[in-house]
Amino acid sequence: MSGGDSLAFEISPNPAPVSDVERAALLADPGFGRLFTDHMVVIKYQKDKGWHEARVDPHGPISVSPAMAALHYAQEIFEGLKAYHCADGGVSLFRPDENARRFQRSAERMSMPRLPEELFLTSIEKLLDVDRAWVPTQDEASLYLRPFMFASEVFLGVRPAHECLYMVIASPVGPYFSGGVQPVTVWVSDNYTRAAPGGTGEAKCGGNYAASLAAQAEAIEAGCDQVVFLDAVERQWVDELGGMNVFYVYDDGSLVTPSLTGSILPGITRESVITLAREAGHEVIERPYSMREWRDDAASGRLREAFACGTAAVITPIGAVKSPAGQFTVADGGTGEVTGKLRAELLDIQHGRTEDRHGWVRRIA
Ligand code: PLP
Ligand code: COI
Repeated sequence: MSGGDSLAFEISPNPAPVSDVERAALLADPGFGRLFTDHMVVIKYQKDKGWHEARVDPHGPISVSPAMAALHYAQEIFEGLKAYHCADGGVSLFRPDENARRFQRSAERMSMPRLPEELFLTSIEKLLDVDRAWVPTQDEASLYLRPFMFASEVFLGVRPAHECLYMVIASPVGPYFSGGVQPVTVWVSDNYTRAAPGGTGEAKCGGNYAASLAAQAEAIEAGCDQVVFLDAVERQWVDELGGMNVFYVYDDGSLVTPSLTGSILPGITRESVITLAREAGHEVIERPYSMREWRDDAASGRLREAFACGTAAVITPIGAVKSPAGQFTVADGGTGEVTGKLRAELLDIQHGRTEDRHGWVRRIA
Protein backbone atom coordinates (compact mmCIF):
# COMPACT_ATOMS: atom_id res chain seq x y z
CA MET A 1 0.00 0.00 0.00
CA SER A 2 1.36 3.44 -0.74
CA GLY A 3 -1.44 6.00 -1.40
CA GLY A 4 -0.75 9.62 -0.59
CA ASP A 5 -1.21 11.25 -4.00
CA SER A 6 -3.60 13.84 -2.60
CA LEU A 7 -2.70 14.23 1.05
CA ALA A 8 -3.75 17.46 2.76
CA PHE A 9 -0.89 19.21 4.56
CA GLU A 10 -1.36 20.56 8.05
CA ILE A 11 0.69 23.75 8.42
CA SER A 12 2.03 24.77 11.86
CA PRO A 13 3.78 28.10 11.42
CA ASN A 14 6.98 28.59 13.41
CA PRO A 15 5.97 30.74 16.42
CA ALA A 16 9.46 32.30 16.58
CA PRO A 17 10.78 32.61 13.02
CA VAL A 18 14.11 34.28 12.34
CA SER A 19 13.54 38.04 11.98
CA ASP A 20 13.90 39.75 8.60
CA VAL A 21 17.00 41.60 9.79
CA GLU A 22 18.70 38.48 11.15
CA ARG A 23 17.81 36.45 8.06
CA ALA A 24 19.27 39.10 5.76
CA ALA A 25 22.51 39.01 7.76
CA LEU A 26 22.64 35.18 7.60
CA LEU A 27 21.89 35.09 3.86
CA ALA A 28 24.76 37.47 3.10
CA ASP A 29 27.30 34.67 3.68
CA PRO A 30 25.47 31.36 4.00
CA GLY A 31 28.35 28.90 3.54
CA PHE A 32 27.13 25.37 2.75
CA GLY A 33 24.72 23.30 4.83
CA ARG A 34 25.06 25.05 8.16
CA LEU A 35 21.98 27.34 8.15
CA PHE A 36 18.40 26.14 8.05
CA THR A 37 15.06 27.77 7.33
CA ASP A 38 12.17 28.15 9.77
CA HIS A 39 10.19 25.08 8.70
CA MET A 40 10.41 21.45 7.60
CA VAL A 41 8.10 18.87 6.03
CA VAL A 42 7.24 15.59 7.75
CA ILE A 43 5.14 12.80 6.20
CA LYS A 44 4.60 9.43 7.82
CA TYR A 45 4.45 6.02 6.20
CA GLN A 46 3.13 2.80 7.67
CA LYS A 47 2.88 -0.43 5.77
CA ASP A 48 -0.82 -0.92 6.63
CA LYS A 49 -1.83 2.75 6.22
CA GLY A 50 0.37 4.00 3.39
CA TRP A 51 1.43 7.66 3.34
CA HIS A 52 -0.45 9.74 5.89
CA GLU A 53 -0.19 12.76 8.16
CA ALA A 54 1.59 15.32 5.99
CA ARG A 55 2.77 18.32 7.97
CA VAL A 56 4.79 21.50 7.68
CA ASP A 57 6.27 22.04 11.14
CA PRO A 58 8.75 24.46 12.65
CA HIS A 59 12.29 23.26 11.81
CA GLY A 60 13.67 21.57 14.89
CA PRO A 61 14.82 18.41 16.61
CA ILE A 62 12.79 15.25 16.33
CA SER A 63 12.51 12.64 19.01
CA VAL A 64 13.31 9.05 17.99
CA SER A 65 13.75 5.75 19.79
CA PRO A 66 17.32 4.46 20.22
CA ALA A 67 15.96 1.25 18.70
CA MET A 68 14.86 2.99 15.49
CA ALA A 69 15.94 0.79 12.56
CA ALA A 70 17.71 3.53 10.53
CA LEU A 71 20.16 4.12 13.40
CA HIS A 72 21.26 0.50 13.20
CA TYR A 73 20.97 -0.66 9.62
CA ALA A 74 21.23 2.63 7.69
CA GLN A 75 17.99 2.24 5.76
CA GLU A 76 18.03 5.86 4.61
CA ILE A 77 17.91 7.75 1.32
CA PHE A 78 18.04 11.40 0.34
CA GLU A 79 17.87 13.88 -2.52
CA GLY A 80 19.44 17.25 -3.19
CA LEU A 81 17.97 20.03 -5.33
CA LYS A 82 17.95 23.79 -5.24
CA ALA A 83 15.44 26.64 -5.36
CA TYR A 84 16.81 29.52 -7.43
CA HIS A 85 16.08 33.21 -7.30
CA CYS A 86 15.01 34.27 -10.80
CA ALA A 87 15.80 37.42 -12.72
CA ASP A 88 12.13 38.54 -12.51
CA GLY A 89 11.96 38.10 -8.72
CA GLY A 90 10.32 34.64 -8.86
CA VAL A 91 11.63 31.31 -7.56
CA SER A 92 12.24 28.17 -9.60
CA LEU A 93 13.28 24.55 -9.25
CA PHE A 94 15.47 22.72 -11.76
CA ARG A 95 14.12 19.36 -13.01
CA PRO A 96 12.57 18.41 -9.63
CA ASP A 97 10.61 15.61 -11.33
CA GLU A 98 13.97 13.91 -11.99
CA ASN A 99 14.81 14.09 -8.28
CA ALA A 100 11.38 12.63 -7.48
CA ARG A 101 11.99 9.69 -9.81
CA ARG A 102 15.53 9.09 -8.54
CA PHE A 103 14.14 9.14 -5.00
CA GLN A 104 11.73 6.37 -6.01
CA ARG A 105 14.57 4.33 -7.54
CA SER A 106 16.69 4.81 -4.42
CA ALA A 107 13.71 3.75 -2.30
CA GLU A 108 13.28 0.58 -4.34
CA ARG A 109 16.97 -0.32 -3.99
CA MET A 110 16.81 0.18 -0.23
CA SER A 111 13.50 -1.74 0.16
CA MET A 112 11.60 1.37 1.15
CA PRO A 113 8.16 2.63 0.05
CA ARG A 114 7.88 4.73 -3.11
CA LEU A 115 6.84 8.29 -2.43
CA PRO A 116 4.46 9.35 -5.24
CA GLU A 117 6.12 11.88 -7.56
CA GLU A 118 3.31 14.42 -7.00
CA LEU A 119 3.71 14.18 -3.24
CA PHE A 120 7.47 14.76 -3.52
CA LEU A 121 6.85 17.89 -5.63
CA THR A 122 4.01 19.14 -3.43
CA SER A 123 6.08 18.68 -0.27
CA ILE A 124 8.77 20.95 -1.69
CA GLU A 125 6.26 23.54 -2.83
CA LYS A 126 4.60 23.56 0.61
CA LEU A 127 7.95 24.22 2.26
CA LEU A 128 8.75 26.99 -0.20
CA ASP A 129 5.32 28.55 0.41
CA VAL A 130 6.36 29.31 3.99
CA ASP A 131 10.14 29.68 3.62
CA ARG A 132 10.40 31.51 0.33
CA ALA A 133 12.10 34.50 1.94
CA TRP A 134 15.08 32.21 2.59
CA VAL A 135 15.98 31.92 -1.10
CA PRO A 136 19.18 34.00 -1.41
CA THR A 137 19.22 36.57 -4.19
CA GLN A 138 22.94 37.01 -4.82
CA ASP A 139 24.97 35.27 -7.53
CA GLU A 140 26.26 31.76 -6.73
CA ALA A 141 23.72 31.31 -3.92
CA SER A 142 20.47 29.33 -3.72
CA LEU A 143 18.25 27.45 -1.29
CA TYR A 144 19.41 23.83 -1.09
CA LEU A 145 16.52 21.44 -0.48
CA ARG A 146 17.14 18.15 1.21
CA PRO A 147 14.29 15.62 0.97
CA PHE A 148 15.13 12.41 2.85
CA MET A 149 13.49 9.27 4.19
CA PHE A 150 14.51 6.83 6.88
CA ALA A 151 13.29 3.66 8.55
CA SER A 152 11.56 4.96 11.68
CA GLU A 153 10.27 1.61 12.90
CA VAL A 154 11.37 0.63 16.39
CA PHE A 155 12.66 -2.87 15.67
CA LEU A 156 16.05 -4.55 15.66
CA GLY A 157 15.25 -7.42 13.29
CA VAL A 158 17.00 -7.12 9.96
CA ARG A 159 14.23 -6.69 7.36
CA PRO A 160 12.68 -3.80 5.42
CA ALA A 161 11.05 -1.47 7.95
CA HIS A 162 7.26 -1.21 8.10
CA GLU A 163 7.40 2.44 9.13
CA CYS A 164 9.28 5.31 7.53
CA LEU A 165 9.45 9.07 7.89
CA TYR A 166 9.90 11.34 4.89
CA MET A 167 11.13 14.85 5.61
CA VAL A 168 12.33 17.92 3.75
CA ILE A 169 14.62 20.53 5.25
CA ALA A 170 16.08 23.56 3.48
CA SER A 171 19.42 25.30 3.77
CA PRO A 172 20.48 28.57 2.12
CA VAL A 173 23.85 27.93 0.47
CA GLY A 174 26.72 29.56 -1.37
CA PRO A 175 29.43 27.61 -3.24
CA TYR A 176 29.97 24.02 -2.02
CA PHE A 177 33.75 24.35 -1.82
CA SER A 178 35.10 26.67 0.83
CA GLY A 179 37.50 28.23 -1.69
CA GLY A 180 34.50 29.54 -3.66
CA VAL A 181 34.23 29.10 -7.42
CA GLN A 182 37.82 28.02 -8.11
CA PRO A 183 39.41 24.96 -9.70
CA VAL A 184 39.69 22.12 -7.19
CA THR A 185 42.37 19.51 -6.59
CA VAL A 186 41.19 15.92 -6.40
CA TRP A 187 42.66 12.89 -4.67
CA VAL A 188 42.62 9.46 -6.33
CA SER A 189 41.98 6.90 -3.65
CA ASP A 190 43.82 3.61 -4.04
CA ASN A 191 42.81 2.36 -0.58
CA TYR A 192 39.08 2.71 -0.84
CA THR A 193 36.30 2.18 -3.36
CA ARG A 194 32.82 3.64 -3.16
CA ALA A 195 30.57 1.13 -4.83
CA ALA A 196 30.81 -2.35 -6.29
CA PRO A 197 28.74 -4.10 -8.99
CA GLY A 198 25.46 -5.15 -7.43
CA GLY A 199 25.91 -2.69 -4.57
CA THR A 200 24.16 0.59 -3.88
CA GLY A 201 26.29 3.00 -5.95
CA GLU A 202 23.45 4.28 -8.11
CA ALA A 203 21.15 4.84 -5.15
CA LYS A 204 21.38 8.06 -3.19
CA CYS A 205 21.60 6.41 0.22
CA GLY A 206 23.38 7.81 3.25
CA GLY A 207 25.51 4.67 3.59
CA ASN A 208 27.37 5.46 0.37
CA TYR A 209 28.50 8.75 1.86
CA ALA A 210 29.43 7.19 5.21
CA ALA A 211 31.63 4.75 3.30
CA SER A 212 33.28 7.61 1.41
CA LEU A 213 34.39 9.53 4.49
CA ALA A 214 37.65 7.68 5.15
CA ALA A 215 38.73 8.36 1.57
CA GLN A 216 37.58 11.97 1.85
CA ALA A 217 39.64 12.32 5.04
CA GLU A 218 42.66 10.99 3.11
CA ALA A 219 41.98 13.60 0.43
CA ILE A 220 41.88 16.43 2.97
CA GLU A 221 45.06 15.10 4.58
CA ALA A 222 46.73 15.26 1.15
CA GLY A 223 45.57 18.87 0.70
CA CYS A 224 42.81 17.97 -1.80
CA ASP A 225 39.17 19.00 -2.01
CA GLN A 226 37.44 15.79 -3.17
CA VAL A 227 38.06 12.10 -3.79
CA VAL A 228 38.03 10.38 -7.17
CA PHE A 229 36.70 6.88 -6.80
CA LEU A 230 37.86 4.16 -9.16
CA ASP A 231 35.85 1.07 -10.02
CA ALA A 232 35.89 -1.64 -7.37
CA VAL A 233 36.86 -4.54 -9.66
CA GLU A 234 39.84 -3.46 -11.78
CA ARG A 235 40.66 -0.30 -9.85
CA GLN A 236 41.48 1.58 -13.02
CA TRP A 237 38.26 3.12 -14.33
CA VAL A 238 37.07 6.46 -13.03
CA ASP A 239 33.62 6.17 -11.45
CA GLU A 240 32.92 9.60 -9.98
CA LEU A 241 33.88 11.92 -7.15
CA GLY A 242 32.52 11.60 -3.61
CA GLY A 243 29.58 13.87 -4.41
CA MET A 244 29.81 14.72 -8.10
CA ASN A 245 30.07 13.26 -11.61
CA VAL A 246 33.06 14.02 -13.82
CA PHE A 247 33.65 15.19 -17.41
CA TYR A 248 36.74 15.49 -19.63
CA VAL A 249 37.11 17.99 -22.50
CA TYR A 250 39.46 17.06 -25.37
CA ASP A 251 41.37 19.17 -27.87
CA ASP A 252 39.01 18.12 -30.70
CA GLY A 253 36.09 19.63 -28.75
CA SER A 254 34.66 16.28 -27.65
CA LEU A 255 33.61 15.53 -24.09
CA VAL A 256 33.96 12.19 -22.32
CA THR A 257 32.15 11.13 -19.16
CA PRO A 258 32.17 7.71 -17.47
CA SER A 259 29.22 5.60 -18.57
CA LEU A 260 26.62 4.69 -15.96
CA THR A 261 27.69 1.26 -14.81
CA GLY A 262 25.26 0.80 -11.95
CA SER A 263 27.94 1.88 -9.49
CA ILE A 264 27.70 5.58 -10.36
CA LEU A 265 25.02 8.02 -9.26
CA PRO A 266 23.11 9.10 -12.40
CA GLY A 267 23.43 12.84 -11.84
CA ILE A 268 20.74 15.19 -13.07
CA THR A 269 23.42 17.81 -13.71
CA ARG A 270 25.41 15.19 -15.66
CA GLU A 271 22.45 14.49 -17.91
CA SER A 272 21.78 18.21 -18.37
CA VAL A 273 25.43 18.88 -19.25
CA ILE A 274 25.36 16.12 -21.87
CA THR A 275 22.30 17.74 -23.47
CA LEU A 276 23.71 21.29 -23.38
CA ALA A 277 27.11 20.23 -24.70
CA ARG A 278 25.58 18.30 -27.61
CA GLU A 279 23.39 21.28 -28.48
CA ALA A 280 26.51 23.45 -28.50
CA GLY A 281 27.97 21.13 -31.15
CA HIS A 282 30.26 19.01 -28.96
CA GLU A 283 30.41 15.28 -29.37
CA VAL A 284 29.74 13.71 -25.94
CA ILE A 285 30.91 10.16 -25.38
CA GLU A 286 29.79 8.06 -22.42
CA ARG A 287 32.32 5.29 -21.97
CA PRO A 288 34.67 3.78 -19.41
CA TYR A 289 37.49 6.26 -18.74
CA SER A 290 40.73 5.08 -17.18
CA MET A 291 43.00 6.80 -14.73
CA ARG A 292 45.90 6.12 -17.07
CA GLU A 293 44.15 8.02 -19.90
CA TRP A 294 43.55 10.94 -17.57
CA ARG A 295 47.25 11.09 -16.67
CA ASP A 296 48.64 10.46 -20.18
CA ASP A 297 46.25 12.80 -21.99
CA ALA A 298 46.86 15.58 -19.48
CA ALA A 299 50.62 15.08 -20.07
CA SER A 300 50.32 15.14 -23.87
CA GLY A 301 48.03 18.17 -23.80
CA ARG A 302 45.17 16.37 -25.60
CA LEU A 303 43.08 16.70 -22.46
CA ARG A 304 42.25 20.38 -22.20
CA GLU A 305 39.78 20.51 -19.30
CA ALA A 306 38.19 18.38 -16.61
CA PHE A 307 35.26 19.31 -14.43
CA ALA A 308 33.04 17.95 -11.69
CA CYS A 309 29.29 18.51 -11.71
CA GLY A 310 26.37 18.09 -9.36
CA THR A 311 23.62 20.06 -7.67
CA ALA A 312 25.83 21.26 -4.83
CA ALA A 313 28.97 21.74 -6.93
CA VAL A 314 27.17 23.09 -10.05
CA ILE A 315 30.12 22.81 -12.49
CA THR A 316 33.50 23.00 -10.80
CA PRO A 317 36.77 22.85 -12.77
CA ILE A 318 39.31 20.24 -11.73
CA GLY A 319 42.72 21.89 -11.82
CA ALA A 320 44.99 19.20 -10.42
CA VAL A 321 45.00 15.50 -9.61
CA LYS A 322 46.98 13.85 -6.81
CA SER A 323 47.50 10.23 -5.89
CA PRO A 324 50.08 8.24 -3.92
CA ALA A 325 51.88 7.80 -7.28
CA GLY A 326 52.30 11.53 -7.86
CA GLN A 327 50.46 14.54 -9.15
CA PHE A 328 49.63 16.31 -12.40
CA THR A 329 47.67 19.32 -13.57
CA VAL A 330 44.98 19.48 -16.21
CA ALA A 331 46.24 22.02 -18.80
CA ASP A 332 47.27 25.14 -16.86
CA GLY A 333 45.18 24.18 -13.82
CA GLY A 334 42.70 27.01 -14.44
CA THR A 335 39.08 27.14 -15.59
CA GLY A 336 38.77 25.97 -19.19
CA GLU A 337 36.65 27.72 -21.78
CA VAL A 338 34.15 24.91 -22.33
CA THR A 339 33.76 24.39 -18.58
CA GLY A 340 33.12 28.10 -18.08
CA LYS A 341 30.57 28.28 -20.92
CA LEU A 342 28.60 25.23 -19.78
CA ARG A 343 28.60 26.53 -16.21
CA ALA A 344 27.29 29.94 -17.26
CA GLU A 345 24.61 28.43 -19.48
CA LEU A 346 23.39 26.05 -16.77
CA LEU A 347 23.19 28.84 -14.19
CA ASP A 348 21.43 31.12 -16.67
CA ILE A 349 18.75 28.48 -17.22
CA GLN A 350 18.40 27.78 -13.49
CA HIS A 351 18.06 31.47 -12.61
CA GLY A 352 15.68 32.21 -15.47
CA ARG A 353 18.15 34.49 -17.26
CA THR A 354 17.80 32.60 -20.52
CA GLU A 355 15.04 30.73 -22.30
CA ASP A 356 14.15 27.32 -20.83
CA ARG A 357 14.19 25.41 -24.12
CA HIS A 358 13.89 21.99 -22.49
CA GLY A 359 11.07 22.54 -20.00
CA TRP A 360 13.55 21.94 -17.15
CA VAL A 361 12.47 24.82 -14.95
CA ARG A 362 9.48 24.57 -12.62
CA ARG A 363 8.30 27.98 -11.45
CA ILE A 364 7.15 28.10 -7.85
CA ALA A 365 6.10 31.74 -7.72
N1 PLP B 1 27.45 11.71 -7.66
C1 PLP B 1 27.28 11.74 -6.33
C2 PLP B 1 27.92 10.68 -5.51
C3 PLP B 1 26.49 12.74 -5.74
O1 PLP B 1 26.32 12.79 -4.42
C4 PLP B 1 25.90 13.72 -6.56
C5 PLP B 1 25.07 14.78 -5.98
O2 PLP B 1 23.91 14.70 -5.88
C6 PLP B 1 26.10 13.63 -7.95
C7 PLP B 1 26.88 12.62 -8.45
C8 PLP B 1 25.46 14.61 -8.88
O3 PLP B 1 24.07 14.42 -8.96
P1 PLP B 1 23.09 15.61 -9.29
O4 PLP B 1 23.63 16.27 -10.49
O5 PLP B 1 21.79 14.95 -9.55
O6 PLP B 1 23.07 16.50 -8.11
C1 COI C 1 24.29 17.19 -4.05
O1 COI C 1 24.93 17.78 -4.91
O2 COI C 1 23.07 17.40 -3.89
C2 COI C 1 24.92 16.20 -3.19
O3 COI C 1 24.23 15.37 -2.72
C3 COI C 1 26.36 16.29 -2.96
C4 COI C 1 26.73 16.37 -1.52
C5 COI C 1 26.26 17.64 -0.85
C6 COI C 1 26.34 15.16 -0.77
